[in-house]
Amino acid sequence: MRSGARIPYRARKALTTITNTQLPGPQLQLRHTWELSAFCRKAIRELLDGAFDGDFTDTDFDHALGGLHAIITDGDVVIGHAAVVARSIVHDGRAYRVGYVEAVATDPERQRQGLGDRVMSAVEAVIDGAYDFGVLGASEAGLRLYRAHGWTPFTGRLSAMTPDGVIETADDSVHVYGRSAPVSGQLICDWRSGELW
Ligand SMILES: CC(C)(COP(=O)(O)OP(=O)(O)OC[C@H]1O[C@@H](n2cnc3c(N)ncnc32)[C@H](O)[C@@H]1OP(=O)(O)O)[C@@H](O)C(=O)NCCC(=O)NCCS
Repeated sequence: MRSGARIPYRARKALTTITNTQLPGPQLQLRHTWELSAFCRKAIRELLDGAFDGDFTDTDFDHALGGLHAIITDGDVVIGHAAVVARSIVHDGRAYRVGYVEAVATDPERQRQGLGDRVMSAVEAVIDGAYDFGVLGASEAGLRLYRAHGWTPFTGRLSAMTPDGVIETADDSVHVYGRSAPVSGQLICDWRSGELW
């Protein structure tokens, strides 16, 4: 009998479309948005809705699309997620290619087991290899995890490029990551709908 023969269809479909593996236990995979099945996207969104207790909008989800997703699955269930997307951010007049981390969440029933640590390590490896530095807006719940991973609060001025020009944006949750990440001066993020940082 083939090893996957007793796995129910829904689980089998998820395993092949999300992870292409049938190993037991939590599995971490890095996938670009284009590789995610509708099933996987839905499972990620359900995880985010649960972890943020209903306070996760369609726009928040949109911010997490178009880059790489670190996804931890256990069987056919997504139990951990973080995304890193490309943004253009100006620091003191120079434009940088930034890995912006979005939609970090783990299953509320599986927290404090190291899943957050695993998804963050995965997106940080992407930032180290592909971007000038990393940026994220930290929730209260995420602060300790990010600080433990070397993310530093940005203490300078924050602004955003909007269709009407550059505006000041007050936000004390912005953290930066990487050896060449600036912690002071002025950061100007690119324009998008919803939360700018
Ligand atoms: C923030 C969040 C992603 C953290 O996920 P997590 O899976 O609990 O993260 P980890 O397990 O890696 O680490 C959390 C804590 O558990 C501890 N821990 C890790 N493995 C552990 C284990 N086996 N036993 C006991 N504690 C453990 C870590 O040391 C860490 O401790 P600390 O908070 O005292 O520093 C999660 O709480 C979450 O989804 N929150 C809601 C959504 C949210 O706010 N996301 C952040 C958006 S910016």
